[in-house]
Amino acid sequence: ASLKRFIELVPKAELHVHVEGALEPELMLALAARNGLPPPYPSVEAARAAYHFADLQSFLDLYYAGCAVLRTQNDFYDLAMGYFRRAAADRVVHAEVFFDPQTHLANGLDWSVFMPGLARAAEDAAAQLGLSAAYIMCFRKEMSAASANDTLTGALPWLLPGPTGHSAIIGVGLDSTELGNPPAKFAEVFERAARLGLQRVAHAGEEGPPEYVWEALNVLHVRRVDHGVHSLEDAALMSFLNASRTPLTVCPLSNLKLKVYDGQLEARLSQLVASGLVITVNSDDAAYFGGYAVANYNYLARVTGLGVEQVARLAANSFEASFFLGSPGPGGE
Ligand code: HPA
Ligand code: ZN
Repeated sequence: ASLKRFIELVPKAELHVHVEGALEPELMLALAARNGLPPPYPSVEAARAAYHFADLQSFLDLYYAGCAVLRTQNDFYDLAMGYFRRAAADRVVHAEVFFDPQTHLANGLDWSVFMPGLARAAEDAAAQLGLSAAYIMCFRKEMSAASANDTLTGALPWLLPGPTGHSAIIGVGLDSTELGNPPAKFAEVFERAARLGLQRVAHAGEEGPPEYVWEALNVLHVRRVDHGVHSLEDAALMSFLNASRTPLTVCPLSNLKLKVYDGQLEARLSQLVASGLVITVNSDDAAYFGGYAVANYNYLARVTGLGVEQVARLAANSFEASFFLGSPGPGGE
């Protein structure tokens, strides 16, 4: 009981959360109604009942379908603010939040629709909830390098500091379909992002092999690896991650629900926690995977037998791994 209380109360940074994955069925249906769109599911219960996944792709198909209800600036504000409220209730005091601009652009929306809604929510989260927040724009791995580059061009106006002096977008990442899409395809756009002063991260080693993690490190020069759990299969990679203190943003309930280590997840998570790497705990897509930060810590604690000191270490790791401390922030071209 005291461990549970400690998990609830310890301040945390959340570094791997997709704002679109925080679209709870209640809000999804409300936004469909507000926008005069057919509801993606007949009821909240039907939505939750549909959330059973065989693998990453079967999740992504529903996740992108859900995004179709997002149409207005206020929709994006409500989406992000809903996440910030849930996160603050879990004592998340800092969040670096992914979003997928290509998804919204493909749905016919402009940057001037989604970005002001997201940015305003981040400002309100700081003012009303004491939660500092910034965004990392992800490029979809199954899309082309040219599309990623065009997306970065579209983001340029949003790299300037906002009213509070902070830039809304602090970095770039890679997400979506991993298998068959190794990271090296995005070498040039990541180089350009680096020249702009943006931080770089990438999903790698979620379903894909350790080679994809090596590529993210050596070709994209990422500062942390999202998921990265398949690094366990390469001892040299584990040594490198350890020596360089390159963090992994691990998402336990996501790994469970997407069956990335079917049957052996508990043993793999135990190995990761014991590895000495800078492991962080994150919710990924909380509305789809059954829980926010505290639920992910609780699950990890239960299956790997964590004690208070280890939970404190994981929470401390989340701040060490964050871009909260001492980054000059983006510039221009
Ligand atoms: N992996 C890849 N793409 C994603 C994820 C994920 O866990 N969540 C949202 N997009
Ligand atoms: Zn993710």
